[in-house]
Amino acid sequence: MASLSLSSAHFSSSRSSVSTSSLSPSSPSLPLLRSPIRHRHRSLRRLTSFSVVPHRTSHSFSICNSQIRCSVAEPLKVMISGAPASGKGTQCELIVQKFGLVHISTGDLLRAEVSSGTDIGKRAKEFMNSGSLVPDEIVIAMVAGRLSREDAKERGWLLDGFPRSFAQAQSLEKLNVKPDIFLLLEVPDETLIERCVGRRLDPVTGKIYHIKNYPPESDEIKERLVTRPDDTEEKVKARLQIYKENSEAIISAYSDVMVKIDANRPKEVVFEETQTLLSQIQLKRMIKTVMLIMKQVLADKASPVQDKWRGIPTKLNNIPHSRDIRAYFYEDVLQATIRSIKDGNSRLRVDINIPELNPEMDVYRIGTLMELVRALALSFTDDGKRVKVCVQGSMGEGALAGMPLQLAGTRKILEYMDWGDDETLGTFVKLGAIGGKEVDEEDDMFILVAPQNAVGNCIIDDLQAMTNAAGKRPVILINPRLKDLPASSGIMQTMGREQRLEYALTFDNCYVFRLLYYLGTQYPIIGALRMAYPYRYELYKRVTEENGKEKYVVISTYSERPTPEQINDAFSGKSREQSKKSSGFWGFLSSVLS
Ligand code: AP5
Repeated sequence: MASLSLSSAHFSSSRSSVSTSSLSPSSPSLPLLRSPIRHRHRSLRRLTSFSVVPHRTSHSFSICNSQIRCSVAEPLKVMISGAPASGKGTQCELIVQKFGLVHISTGDLLRAEVSSGTDIGKRAKEFMNSGSLVPDEIVIAMVAGRLSREDAKERGWLLDGFPRSFAQAQSLEKLNVKPDIFLLLEVPDETLIERCVGRRLDPVTGKIYHIKNYPPESDEIKERLVTRPDDTEEKVKARLQIYKENSEAIISAYSDVMVKIDANRPKEVVFEETQTLLSQIQLKRMIKTVMLIMKQVLADKASPVQDKWRGIPTKLNNIPHSRDIRAYFYEDVLQATIRSIKDGNSRLRVDINIPELNPEMDVYRIGTLMELVRALALSFTDDGKRVKVCVQGSMGEGALAGMPLQLAGTRKILEYMDWGDDETLGTFVKLGAIGGKEVDEEDDMFILVAPQNAVGNCIIDDLQAMTNAAGKRPVILINPRLKDLPASSGIMQTMGREQRLEYALTFDNCYVFRLLYYLGTQYPIIGALRMAYPYRYELYKRVTEENGKEKYVVISTYSERPTPEQINDAFSGKSREQSKKSSGFWGFLSSVLS
């Protein structure tokens, strides 16, 4: 097996080794645009005997022999902000050269519209020339359109000069656009004015100069330099005032990812700090990606798609279940789910009814359900997936409003749970409700916690909207209860009831476990039914050995979920042919399993 040792040397030095995948050329430069982006193919580093090759999609990787194909890491998303002339554009030039991000400057986009004489340009011109902000709706539409383009998704983006108002920040939130880092350049006011007044632009290359600080390289360039119409002292003061009025609202929206930079230093010094910050994010991601790959390689080598089940744990009557027992079932569910998703299934149903997860028993523990959900979610995030964990909200209106008792407080528990490192909840794991609107583009999969109908209210329509929006992405139902529960008031949801129930059946059973008891009792356990995708349903009988220890022995297996009659027969030692009808001592099982 290939060696997996990884020394820090693999990550050392070369920030440029952190590469985005093959970079396409930038769009042709427009007049007065900042310098055109030049992309470099950067050499990819070898990780011991594995070669890591960038992959078009950010999260996925595939393994063939000893070659690992993967995305090096998710692309960077950077916002840069600061007062007029704080040096945003100058830093952006350098960042783009180094990191290959797509530079989206609202100032540049607007200036391009103005110089092309478009309708937008005509509307924007007077605002820009007076130093005021261009109306939000124009700028928001422009940025949303640019961010949604493929290059920005693949290479990452560098947003310069946006958002500039609270409404703009809100628009990004609605689009679920969040930066990895918000760079805030700080420069004293008097320096800003001097920088603006001395600024010159090269209309050919888009490069930014300053008559004193950064003069042009040749007379030829000097002759063609232009001054921006909004770079007079008076207009700069107006722009600065507007910036100050808006900056607080924007800064507070990104305080969790904001880094202030003293930009009153030479541009190279400022860039040194900027690039260190960005490289750190990339490095962290790269390490995480590589660790995931290694984990995956080890797991695949150790157990190429095989059932790791080691038999049903005993002492299931002891409540609370031991940590080991719980972990055992979480792993069992996880492995079945992974296998099912690997096989391309996207509508998965998990039914696990050990006593602590059976809401019909008084030993039911919501914490165990939450723990199971967390184990599943974190395991998928380890594989680089972004998982949305969904708990349905209140359903119905008026007297019928409410949520199933089983789910009360669930959302809060999820929020307060320990999700490992600080970044996980909110980045790789997100919490949501059930419904079409809950599906975001960035979500890779969805775990739905015990979705269920409440009396008189049906969750299935929301569920259907959600799966429609999810498309081919996996949706996992954990312990769903989708039987109709009509309201006693006579207000029954009968419209489309059959279709809804039919829809509920479209989910494939990926895991089933339930204990079997005598009719009307929950003690003693007489056996169990288990199915872990893609294996057969296994029917177990619980027996007590001579030494008093209990164990579970398989008495039959089935390709489909066995009927109560089949289970009765297996327990009574009959084949289906011998007994067409359930009867006698084992007849009790029918009602338990129906
Ligand atoms: P925009 O083009 O974004 O202008 P700005 O934010 O005012 O910023 P500047 O481009 O003036 O400065 P900068 O920080 O990029 O500094 P630069 O690197 O060039 O927007 C223009 C207008 O468009 C707005 O007024 C508004 O009307 C409209 N607009 C844009 N976005 C909008 C939005 N979201 N909503 C509504 N309206 C919007 O550097 C400045 C000078 O300093 C240069 O000469 C440079 O060489 C020099 N310099 C840079 N760094 C250094 C350094 N470290 N040391 C010394 N000199 C330096």
